[in-house]
Amino acid sequence: MSEQNQQPANDARLWREEFPVEAAEQGHVERRQFGKFLVLTSGAMLMGQLWLVAKDWFAKSTKAAWPRRVVAKEGEIAVGQAKVFTYPGPQDNCLLVRLGETEYVAYRQKCTHLSCAVIYSAAHRRLECPCHEGYFSIDDGRVLQGPPPRPLPKVELEVRDGQLIATGILHLGEGTDD
Ligand code: FES
Repeated sequence: MSEQNQQPANDARLWREEFPVEAAEQGHVERRQFGKFLVLTSGAMLMGQLWLVAKDWFAKSTKAAWPRRVVAKEGEIAVGQAKVFTYPGPQDNCLLVRLGETEYVAYRQKCTHLSCAVIYSAAHRRLECPCHEGYFSIDDGRVLQGPPPRPLPKVELEVRDGQLIATGILHLGEGTDD
């Protein structure tokens, strides 16, 4: 046998020594790899769930950290009108809307799609984002139409001694915002 013919045989023997998996065991190895894949993806999903639970717990436990801030006087704006204020930080624009004689609501003004400022439409009794026609319910901030993926966060309000006081931020269907 020539030296050239011996080379592939040697290569095959070397390959078998380094990767000693017989054809009969191939199925077993694949099942084992699949099992590892299942364990890893299940672990990743479990970690994701634990992270969400921890975030929710942290958000609830920090409720007491929200500042109380006077945002308007009662009667300062007419029924059907709106006023921009900032809460909780100086960059966080929010919109106060007077819906009735004693009925006020407030939401963060930043659209949940691409952050344009929403405005109040008294004619349609809803909050509207002019950028891509995203509409939100004035009652609870839920999305009525358009691309926004989430409701508008709602500002908790308290009326005391003729003043409207912001006391926190709420997400529809969730606890206090983080
Ligand atoms: S930024 Fe508001 S709908 Fe797109």
